[in-house]
Amino acid sequence: MALHLLSLVATASAAALAKNSLPCDIYEFGETPCVAAHSTTRALYANYGGPLYQVVRDSDGSTTNINTKSRGGIADSGWQDTWCAGTTCGISMIYDQSPRGNHLSRAPPGGFKGPELNGTDNIASAVGAPVLLNGNRVYGVFVSPGTGYRREEVNGTAVGDEPQGIYAVFDGTHTNNQCCFDYGNAETNALDTGNGHMETIYFGDINGMGNGKGNGPWIMADLENGLWAGSKEGNDPGVPSVPFRFVTAVVKGEPNHWSIRGANAASDRAMSTYFEGERPKNGYNPMKREGAIILGIGGDNSDWSQGTFYEGCMTEGYPDDSIEDAVQANIASAGYDIAPLMDGPKVSVGSTISFRAGTSGNNYLAHDPHAGNISIHTVTNGNSADEKKAASWRVRTGLGNAGCLSFESVDRAGTFIRHSGFKLQADKNDGTKLFREDATYCAMQGFSGEGTNSFRNWGYAARYFRVYNGFVYTASNGGPREFDTKVNWNNDASWTVVDGFAS
Ligand code: AHR
Repeated sequence: MALHLLSLVATASAAALAKNSLPCDIYEFGETPCVAAHSTTRALYANYGGPLYQVVRDSDGSTTNINTKSRGGIADSGWQDTWCAGTTCGISMIYDQSPRGNHLSRAPPGGFKGPELNGTDNIASAVGAPVLLNGNRVYGVFVSPGTGYRREEVNGTAVGDEPQGIYAVFDGTHTNNQCCFDYGNAETNALDTGNGHMETIYFGDINGMGNGKGNGPWIMADLENGLWAGSKEGNDPGVPSVPFRFVTAVVKGEPNHWSIRGANAASDRAMSTYFEGERPKNGYNPMKREGAIILGIGGDNSDWSQGTFYEGCMTEGYPDDSIEDAVQANIASAGYDIAPLMDGPKVSVGSTISFRAGTSGNNYLAHDPHAGNISIHTVTNGNSADEKKAASWRVRTGLGNAGCLSFESVDRAGTFIRHSGFKLQADKNDGTKLFREDATYCAMQGFSGEGTNSFRNWGYAARYFRVYNGFVYTASNGGPREFDTKVNWNNDASWTVVDGFAS
């Protein structure tokens, strides 16, 4: 009875604390302080008024910090919009708000190489994951395959079998079944050094390295060489699929004991425990954590996954459930909600359009008459009806995300503009997730006054429709491929949307 009362008192005071405190204040109250606190959306300490993240501007390579708008407040995304206007920006650093200085930056090559020329991973587009916090637009970290952040020289994170806690808020609808969208504790050399050398939250729908109930996505633990939904090898049906748009995920561990917890980040006042029990066999007890921090990749830099991260912390010590419940109550009060993905002159679903390359002339994006190739064709009213149709596209709701658009060929029903190897072609919709995402583009502002619009791929958020040597690609401004060159980017990646030549 006395114990019960004590825990009631603890729960009540933790809930009261949640009103005026942010997640790391609450963990501190619970005597499990944050040793890493990352967020591009808001402060995680009521007293924090410094930089949340750094963006790099692709036009000139310069960087700026995005700070909180006020102490304990949300990100000053307006400064990002001003700084990045007319070009593209990436998130080059996610600052650690804790006193430990565990900032995250572009992940180096490890057991697997990233897509950049020197084998590093990509950084996230600064505009891939707009989100509302109590009605104000800020940005999350949109991880496309090949994107990853890491810190190898760390301060204060758990090593070996020391207790630790982790929570993160993710987009519950941006996932895939590839390895490994992780946030947490991993190897210091980016190599797979064996079972138990990492302990991160994993979020996604991989089937085969361990999984939960239904079709996913699942919150699991990446403990190295396996994603764990419990302590049994393979399926552990106790862990549910998570149906929420905004997900709070927790993985925490202490000697021979660990838990997976979750919540609807936007509305739940507490978390649910999905698993609690002993460590898996075969090298996971005791744990051999190394203490590095990863985001968006596996321990050995496996970088084929997708996901969106908004905020997260790692703690010293194993947090009490009631403390995490208070953290969740604070997350709910932050008011995570869906923001519009497009940001430019409206391109209306149902209309028929043609894409003029740049601002003037008669060069249009068109498919070849007898093949799916897409290239730039010269089209005027004097062209044949077939040639005009090949340059005309019906605007559809995005196949891969309803907040963006897909473009269906006027003369080939069911055929859409998509990228393959990042080159555009017109292909029949095969119904796969890959096709739907390859065929989904968000209409944005044209660059630096060129054209009316640019078209950003939803799945690879740093990549836009871009003319190069007469063909059209899904290119990134200064990325590793030839067609990613910065030279002439603003003109090559800006389009004037006009009424379709044919309907
Ligand atoms: O444990 C799953 C993955 O396996 C790890 O993230 C990676 O290091 C290894 O390939």
